Amino acid sequence: MCGIVGYIGEKKAKPILINGLLRLEYRGYDSAGIATIEGKEIKVIKNKGRVSELNNINDINNLNGTIGIGHTRWATHGKPSSINSHPHMDNSNNFSVVHNGIIENYADLKEFLKSHKYTFLSETDTEVIPNLIHFYYSTSTESGQTKFLKAVIDACKMLKGSYAIEVLSTYYPDNMIVVRKDSPLVIGKGKSENYISSDIPAILSFTKDFYLLNDLEFAFISRENISFYDENLNKITKEIKNITWNAGDVEKNGYPDFMLKEINEQPKSIRETIGSRLTLNSKVTITDLNLSKKYLESINRIFIVGCGTAMHTGITAKAIFENLCEIPVEVEVASEFRYKNPIINKSTLCLFVTQSGETADTIAALKLAKSKGAKTIAISNVIGSSITREADHTIYTHAGPEIAVASTKAYTSQITLLAILAIYFAEILEKNSNKINELKKDILLLPINVEKILKNTDKIKEFAKKIYKEKDVFFIGRGVDYSVSMEGSLKLKEISYIHSEAYPSGELKHGPIALIENGVTVISVLTNKLLLEKSISNLQEVITRGAKTFIVTNQKLTNDFDEVIQIPETNTLISPILSVVPLQLLAYYISKEKGLDVDKPRNLAKSVTVE
Ligand code: AGP
Ligand code: GLU
Repeated sequence: MCGIVGYIGEKKAKPILINGLLRLEYRGYDSAGIATIEGKEIKVIKNKGRVSELNNINDINNLNGTIGIGHTRWATHGKPSSINSHPHMDNSNNFSVVHNGIIENYADLKEFLKSHKYTFLSETDTEVIPNLIHFYYSTSTESGQTKFLKAVIDACKMLKGSYAIEVLSTYYPDNMIVVRKDSPLVIGKGKSENYISSDIPAILSFTKDFYLLNDLEFAFISRENISFYDENLNKITKEIKNITWNAGDVEKNGYPDFMLKEINEQPKSIRETIGSRLTLNSKVTITDLNLSKKYLESINRIFIVGCGTAMHTGITAKAIFENLCEIPVEVEVASEFRYKNPIINKSTLCLFVTQSGETADTIAALKLAKSKGAKTIAISNVIGSSITREADHTIYTHAGPEIAVASTKAYTSQITLLAILAIYFAEILEKNSNKINELKKDILLLPINVEKILKNTDKIKEFAKKIYKEKDVFFIGRGVDYSVSMEGSLKLKEISYIHSEAYPSGELKHGPIALIENGVTVISVLTNKLLLEKSISNLQEVITRGAKTFIVTNQKLTNDFDEVIQIPETNTLISPILSVVPLQLLAYYISKEKGLDVDKPRNLAKSVTVE
């Protein structure tokens, strides 16, 4: 699940590679390395630790090559160490490879190569790749560039699993070959130079023209040209895509961290996700989605599938779809869905929510649903990402690049878009028109209401100071307040390393309340007027047992709680879009209080492109 970059041009490759890797570090950060072609040799500098630490290695300043590859690792095979870091070389030191993904049959391939006298330095799965390339290269009858290309293609034919790889060779000091299968890779086209990266934002400051590689498309790259081939060595043509994001969108713009910047960007990202899709006096329009009344009437079940935060948006959206469209909805974690033989047929509609569009489990879940005849819709934030090339339809959130590992603006944009989609269905189905107008008004007010919450953060900061040393925190809520509690709890654990659990308020008395004792913090979201009294009774039960309480509410409360964060009122169905903001900020401030790396929490990576 690492990040890879490449450069081929007339400038020195090293600073460009380091710059790209720093932007890709969110994908993994346990070790890093780069390789450049220096005259007739490939020079590799790599080490355990962060990308910035590469600069402490003296030899790095001797790299003057104008072609190079780089890697920031999230180890899957072999501990983070200098030797396991990428790039990896073949035994003859003529081929160098960086790899994102997992080679599932690496043990067999290692045995095969060992039987041909190859030896291995690292514990990684990756090291088989340069050696396989060498194996096919040295036994090839081809000549010229085809010899290099064919050796890479033949090596890839042996690989099972997922990979995005870049290959350098001393035999071709003016070229590089890249290929992907089930791991992301894009090529940025410049003038007499080309850039390669795991994602678009990392190289957006260099170019806005991109080729998006599909699985098993091989690119043979020089300074001036990029030629594409399939695995049978047939040339293919690819269209260039112009990306409209600004390079500034991937900078911190004066914020101390990406997470705080992204929390503050939510009014804008929600506004842009609504765009012209939803207005007060006309029906919702969703470009590229032309579903008929007949088709929508034939649906007997909707699945919403995703991982982590993306899956949590499904739990909120379930209520919206069931309420407006009266179609039963099931929400599934993608890694479970893909292996449980879900009951799906052509009357099932499957929605796959993924910010990155690269999450391996979500992509596999979509492929499964498709193979069973369901219609698939991807909801993604990244144009041209892998999932968008598999789904029958894609609708985009317009949240702009999300860099912090902890997802914030993607969550609120995803629920906004799912709510718009539910209205779109309901309008076609001619259902619940009485509820829709009010909901539309509240959706349009969301950006302003989030702005109001963001203007008033002092109390949240103060509460963070009071509880940052805690070991366990509980989140409780009912209905959509429970769904947002799950998200608040995930945010807290991932960036502050405090153990936390979310429970439906009414469930506490069935077990978890045994854990409540003097001083334990209970965080509760109260936005549903109809359930208010019941929820307050549940809070009373924990207060009686000594709990400290932090409440996020849009109701006027008369009871005594340790802290109450007042948020604007809105339609209950979409209230998580507002109530999540104080929870995001609370997790953020606690993490800061603890002096942690908010944007890059331990053991995590932004895009989980492995199983
Ligand atoms: C959220 O803060 C997470 N880091 C994580 O749960 C994330 O939402 C999940 O990995 C799904 O990612 P995706 O939206 O890119 O598919
Ligand atoms: N499997 C490779 C390794 O462990 C690459 C991991 C990754 O994609 O981060 O080194």
